[in-house]
Amino acid sequence: MNNTDVTLELERQNYFIEQCREWVKKQSEILKRPLTCTAKTFGCQMNAKDSEKLIGILIKIGYVETDSENADFVLYNTCTVRENANLKVYGHLGYMQNLKKKNPNMMIAMCGCMMQEPEVVEKIKKSYKFVDIVFGTHNIFKLAELIYRRIETGKMYIDIWKDTDMIVEDLPIERKFSFKSGVNIMFGCDNFCSYCIVPYVRGRERSRKPDDIIKEIEQLVKDGVVEVMLLGQNVNSYGKGLDEEITFAELLRRVDEIPGLKRIRFMTSHPKDLSDELIEVMKNSKKICRHLHLPIQSGSNRILKIMNRKYTREKYLEEVEKIKAAMPDIAITTDIIVGFPGETEEDFLETMDIVKKVRYDSAFTFIYSKRTGTPAAKMENQVPKDVIKDRFDRLLEEIQKISAEETQKRIGSIQPVLVEDVNSHDDSLMTGRLSHNTLVHFKGTPDMIGRIYNVKLESAKGFYYMGTIVEE
Ligand code: SAH
Ligand code: SF4
Ligand code: F3S
Repeated sequence: MNNTDVTLELERQNYFIEQCREWVKKQSEILKRPLTCTAKTFGCQMNAKDSEKLIGILIKIGYVETDSENADFVLYNTCTVRENANLKVYGHLGYMQNLKKKNPNMMIAMCGCMMQEPEVVEKIKKSYKFVDIVFGTHNIFKLAELIYRRIETGKMYIDIWKDTDMIVEDLPIERKFSFKSGVNIMFGCDNFCSYCIVPYVRGRERSRKPDDIIKEIEQLVKDGVVEVMLLGQNVNSYGKGLDEEITFAELLRRVDEIPGLKRIRFMTSHPKDLSDELIEVMKNSKKICRHLHLPIQSGSNRILKIMNRKYTREKYLEEVEKIKAAMPDIAITTDIIVGFPGETEEDFLETMDIVKKVRYDSAFTFIYSKRTGTPAAKMENQVPKDVIKDRFDRLLEEIQKISAEETQKRIGSIQPVLVEDVNSHDDSLMTGRLSHNTLVHFKGTPDMIGRIYNVKLESAKGFYYMGTIVEE
């Protein structure tokens, strides 16, 4: 797909946005109220970012955003990484059927990773006939066109693309936070970890051009953003396939130079592609946060091999050593899967051991979930549920113990904190985030939101701090 095609596509979509605008305007004149829209987002940061783009289009069309699921346009942006994520979506749909009976004007759209699975779409066609629009992960920029088609045909409109090489820039967007934003740097994944559905539902890896990324961040900064999170399933392999030769570390260096930008985060780093150059750039940067999310998945070499992760525990530990030597205060976090097919007690103890060696600031632990279509789903010797549960509990206990000890270490220190929100339990407190990604609560006022203050960490409660502002 070349640039002209993408520009033409954007023009086409602007045409459909106009058409839908007129329709929404007419509808609200009939109903004598504005039409509302809402997005329920499941899954990872990629989906969160996609939802901001989708809501951006809906607002451009004339919808007004609301939190309530009883809206005129309800969008479910789904995740299928684990079975649980799917079940939640079906739960919501059951509830929506009744709401829609009461509001026949309601339009329900389903998109995201689940929709890239043909059996899910079949199920929606058969059992959830009240759904209006179904689309996938590759054609979100077409939302206005899909709404237009739905109105024209009066039937459920389905448009799923298997894959794409198209990256449509400059879509409207409605950002959730005024002061921080995710920025896609790449889409898709080529790693095919044997348990993971993401490469099948997000397609092949493609990187955005560095100039487009920089341009977007410069604009964000002009609009008041101080923190960006660079998003990709494997940011460390950024740049593959671009005409211009560039590494992720080089991209970070360029982002680091953008005036006015205060903090840079990124997600997710695959340990196999972590470079010395990246560690060096992080170390020398004042903006790149002191946090690295480095999913290990398992501490057993045997399991890592079957998972197709392409590193060993030794290589992983070596990288962690290098990172800690360069940035002693860095927070390292991870993802771990318990109960991968064939995982023995010995394999599991290797995972426990690596957790003790790395001493993660925090870790997400997941019970292995069989995903149809992945190589691991066909593997025999799936681990029994009770064995998994026992391992999961032991792992969680160890992680929580270490995490609490690591959190304790920063007590008494003064840290720059980006104020994010009013505390949800006590509105005399504000909640902010350390460079290390940990939350801290302290006395303050809402006008502080979006700014960085120095906060003294006074006590640690679980995985967060209580603190006091020491100066601006
Ligand atoms: N691209 C990222 C991860 C994206 S998915 C990476 O490679 O690190 C987020 C996490 O979900 C993964 O790190 C993994 O721990 C977990 N996960 C993925 N597939 C899973 C499955 N089938 N069962 C349980 N957990 C899974
Ligand atoms: Fe899934 Fe592996 Fe790709 Fe991460 S790197 S999205 S775990 S296949
Ligand atoms: Fe889920 Fe898709 Fe993200 S499967 S984790 S929403 S890429």
